[in-house]
Amino acid sequence: MTTMQVNIMDALKARTAEQHRRAEQSPFMRGLVSGQVTREGYARWLGQMMHVHAALEGEIVARRGAEPRLAVASDEQFGAPRLRADLVALGVDPASVRPSRATAALTDHVRAVAASCPVALLGFHYVLEGSKNGNAYIAKALRRTLGLATGAGDAYLDPYGEQQRAKWAAFREAMGGQEYSETDAAAVLDAACAMFDGITAMNGEM
Ligand code: HEM
Repeated sequence: MTTMQVNIMDALKARTAEQHRRAEQSPFMRGLVSGQVTREGYARWLGQMMHVHAALEGEIVARRGAEPRLAVASDEQFGAPRLRADLVALGVDPASVRPSRATAALTDHVRAVAASCPVALLGFHYVLEGSKNGNAYIAKALRRTLGLATGAGDAYLDPYGEQQRAKWAAFREAMGGQEYSETDAAAVLDAACAMFDGITAMNGEM
């Protein structure tokens, strides 16, 4: 078993660059970043993201004992609790939100990968943690256009505030500092691509 020579974080960035570009330019994301979304549309999106985060973060917590590298995905990074709080702030009962077809396909995939290759969960998590870089801009727009008060409906999008860059750098260092066999690295990269595809499909349903 050989260990990966290239830093996995560089490989992730390179492998998903085109998917990122497409995600950024998708009509739904452009609508979010320019604040052109209704409160209901925003809450619907948060509800679907809640299912994605809950599935992934539940698997990460359950498998940390068996796969120590999952420790780089810390509780502080988890989105599901913030998504539930944001939904409540917007007047939606989180328990009432049903996963869409694309969301269910993505969460099924996350659970299947978790069972066969737990370290690959880091590939899914990378995409969600990385998305906070752009989400911070979306939060700014939505505070303005939807009149969200800081901490009431925007917690998921902008959890770190001014610490965003430092938190992202620390995560890159922690995840990049683990050892990955070539097989592990391939599984992490595939998971990251699948998360981008899954979210693109989910956003397309919005
Ligand atoms: C309006 C939409 C978006 C904007 C404006 C945006 C913006 C950004 C920016 C500026 C960065 C660079 C941060 C840096 O290197 O300092 C970034 C990184 C990243 N974004 Fe987005 N983004 C958007 C949508 C998304 C979406 C939908 C996803 C995934 C679901 C995503 C996932 C990522 C990831 C994984 C990274 C880290 C790339 C790396 O490895 O360095 N982004 N984004």
